[in-house]
Amino acid sequence: MDMNQPIGTTPLDRADGLVGRPIDRIDGRLKVTGRAPYAYEVRDLAKPAYGFIVEASIAKGTIRRLDTDAARRAPGVLLVMTHENVPEQGEKKEQVFPQLQGAEIRFRGQPIAFVVAESFEQARAAAALVKADYAVQTPQASLRDAKPTAFEPKAMQTPPDSKLGDFDGAFAAAPVKLDVEYTTPVQIHAQMEPHATIASWESGQDGERVTLYTANQMLNRGQASLAQVLKLDPKNVRLISHYIGGGFGSKLQPQPEATLAALASRSLRRPVKVAMTRQQEFHVATHRSDTIQRIRLGADANGRLTAIGHESWSAATPGDGFYETSANVTRALYAAENRITRHRLANLNKPVASAMRAPGEAVGQLAFECAMDELAEQLKVDPIELRIRNEPEQDPEKKVPFSTRQLVACMREGAQRFGWDKRGAVGATRDGRWLVGMGMAAAARLNPLMPSQASVRLNPDGTLTVRMAMTDIGTGTYTILAQVAGEMMGLPVERIRVEIGDTAYPKAAGSGGSFGAGSAGSALYVACDNLRQALLTQAGLNPEGATFAEGRVVSGNRSEALTDLAGKDGVEAKGEIKPGAMKEKYSQHSYGAHFAEVGVDADTGEIRLRRMLGVFTGGRILNQKTARSQALGGMIFGIGAALMEAAEIDTRTGQFVNHDLAEYHVPAHADVPAIDAMFLPELDDKSNPLKSKGLGEVSICGAGAALANAVYNATGVRIREYPLTLDKVL
Ligand code: MOS
Repeated sequence: MDMNQPIGTTPLDRADGLVGRPIDRIDGRLKVTGRAPYAYEVRDLAKPAYGFIVEASIAKGTIRRLDTDAARRAPGVLLVMTHENVPEQGEKKEQVFPQLQGAEIRFRGQPIAFVVAESFEQARAAAALVKADYAVQTPQASLRDAKPTAFEPKAMQTPPDSKLGDFDGAFAAAPVKLDVEYTTPVQIHAQMEPHATIASWESGQDGERVTLYTANQMLNRGQASLAQVLKLDPKNVRLISHYIGGGFGSKLQPQPEATLAALASRSLRRPVKVAMTRQQEFHVATHRSDTIQRIRLGADANGRLTAIGHESWSAATPGDGFYETSANVTRALYAAENRITRHRLANLNKPVASAMRAPGEAVGQLAFECAMDELAEQLKVDPIELRIRNEPEQDPEKKVPFSTRQLVACMREGAQRFGWDKRGAVGATRDGRWLVGMGMAAAARLNPLMPSQASVRLNPDGTLTVRMAMTDIGTGTYTILAQVAGEMMGLPVERIRVEIGDTAYPKAAGSGGSFGAGSAGSALYVACDNLRQALLTQAGLNPEGATFAEGRVVSGNRSEALTDLAGKDGVEAKGEIKPGAMKEKYSQHSYGAHFAEVGVDADTGEIRLRRMLGVFTGGRILNQKTARSQALGGMIFGIGAALMEAAEIDTRTGQFVNHDLAEYHVPAHADVPAIDAMFLPELDDKSNPLKSKGLGEVSICGAGAALANAVYNATGVRIREYPLTLDKVL
């Protein structure tokens, strides 16, 4: 099915159905009892050897000599792979780079050797014996220094620049103006499960093949990229990711450990397993680039925006073009006749920058939603009122209608529930030693649909098997797929077997960009719809008004048990969803509003979040419990971005100096007081057959800005350099 038409009434529109119910995760018990094997724990293979990555200790230069003799002689060592003996590889695809390519070092942490031994301890000990002698060059690692020479990057999905009307003229003429620069630091995904792979290379009848048990969000994309780099036919590359301990974008593509494990297994003809250390997560795996963002707003005296300018600079590793799309959502957020957005990129001697949860929007709205707060302050207008005055009637750049847009409703609902009317003047509220303030920010995030396929099989025992190469990164995919299939077929979730996480199954979108549930769920919806039709035809039932409930299909005065219709072989159907005309005809986003109350210690500048509320819209909510958990997680991401998260780079050496979770702080329980998230009712019939929208990422967008705006309201200090640490308050 191509998404070319709005969706009419569907079986999911039942008010009391299974879809939407806050049921517990169907894989929850397996996970909490340790019976859900993650990549590193899979025991399906012959005894594996263990790999350990050796990293470059400089950020720029050349390896003059790599001494691997001691490592090779160390106990248990089976292989020391370097640029001198690595098998030939294909070209980089997406952001999957061939490994150990030559003596040139481009970033600190670049793998320079891969040591494989009988045990993990032996591999790690031998890795420490690899000695590199470098010709060191001075790295370029400062985005600030490189900003003047940053270039226009090649477009990613959308062009890097946009322009409408006469921005310069309108901005110059505006009676009220704001021209500010915000910065956001390097952020690290910090997902709980590190990158890990067990690779098994085999020579089969149809050639060389490799199976990777790996932690990966988008299996089919990873399959294609690895196939190119490993010079294999994609059908001979199998990725299996049944359980994934978080990704946040860092597992959108295979990381170096997967490529290295595959290459080593090829050489050794034995399974090779490897996990990155937490430190390697910082420099071998990817991160979100730091950004510099200039925001210019021009408004009339009533606060109507006449000019919006949002420019963003970010950094990519040498030879890569990934840029942080900070200004993309600004193109659709508020009305103004004259507008520019612009993205510029610098190639720096830093590890690979890539997508991290809400790439672009997350940091874009950290900046933009504070700039809106600054403008409200200048105009002496309530920040919600300012946003309402600039609410566009259609997409301000694409000039097409919004499929749904309840931003104003989110702000109003949130304001009422949070007690926004009690917000005091700047610096006016005190609670003992704490200066107290409230802030809000809007949230918006693109809603994409990705091609996906699914197969379903009604089994003779009345269960239904769902198969697709989808993944569950901890978000609840297993559960919502069971709910969609259960509702469509009139079966309880206990009768649905969800089998995902394997490229042997039909191709699916995977988990990323907030497209996972909608895309995979829609493919499943179509597969179930096809299965319903097949069963009705087979039974000679009138499809008109037929219902599937309680394990039976009822049409007119006939009622058949699904177990009877399944026969002795079962009945199978397939389904497919593809984006279509709705994508271009409508501007599709999820929206929300964040409200935060902070206390700032009047003496030390310490900032504590006191309470927080997020109100979101995401089309149909497929499971109120898992959706709310995702929203809370996004908001907590925002708390981290606002108050503590920053990977600090020593620009002289190109090294992240705080490369573990002891020094790269993410919010802990004590940092997260009473927070709540809720969804307003919504159905988006232009989005997908489920009428759902993405909600994994909208909840981080703007979340940190609400805290920053609250800090301003508490103290009168406007901090434009994230994170907001106490030294910047004083
Ligand atoms: Mo998300 S950064 O697409 O996992």
